[in-house]
Amino acid sequence: MRELSKIILITGVPGTGKSAVSIKLKKNLKNSVILTSESLKKAIIGYDKKRKCKIIDVKIYSKELSKFMKKYHWDYIIIESLFAGKIKNKNVITCFVLRTNEKELIKRLKKRGYSQEKIKENVEAELCNYCGQEAFENQKNVIEIDTTKLSAKKTSIKCLEFLKKIEKK
Ligand SMILES: Nc1ncnc2c1ncn2[C@@H]1O[C@H](COP(=O)(O)OP(=O)(O)OP(=O)(O)O)[C@@H](O)[C@H]1O
Ligand SMILES: [Mg+2]
Repeated sequence: MRELSKIILITGVPGTGKSAVSIKLKKNLKNSVILTSESLKKAIIGYDKKRKCKIIDVKIYSKELSKFMKKYHWDYIIIESLFAGKIKNKNVITCFVLRTNEKELIKRLKKRGYSQEKIKENVEAELCNYCGQEAFENQKNVIEIDTTKLSAKKTSIKCLEFLKKIEKK
């Protein structure tokens, strides 16, 4: 029987570089696809007006992910999302938590034009390692990577090195 895709989770608060790193990582993983929070439409259950973003049901997302894996033949599925740490699937091989120090994160979010309130909320989430905590609670092979001084490309190389190690096991 065909092997199901291997899942790589990438989490971190906004601005830590999930999307940028995923794109670089995909280039080095053959037959791979990137899923974002909004890729599995049935999991979108509403809209948060205050945060100006869609509301995702992670349970539904996990169910839809299983269906997606049976339907499409990807070797690797990279899921990059703030809630990636909460996704349940036995084919997850690792979860990368991208971290960034306060000063650098503020710089990146200001560049994006985020409001003071939104910056504060995200910096607080980063300081208490919200995404990391969720990942450590729910996933195996959790790796934190500090992206403060690393480019997205260098961060992706670190991810690849770790993937090589766990795939050898
Ligand atoms: N390692 C890095 N060093 C410097 N800048 C970076 C790094 N990674 C990402 N950036 C820049 O920071 C900004 C945020 O990156 P990105 O959009 O990948 O974050 P994200 O985690 O996907 O955020 P969101 O959760 O909002 O989608 C972008 O402008 C990106 O070019
Ligand atoms: Mg992104």
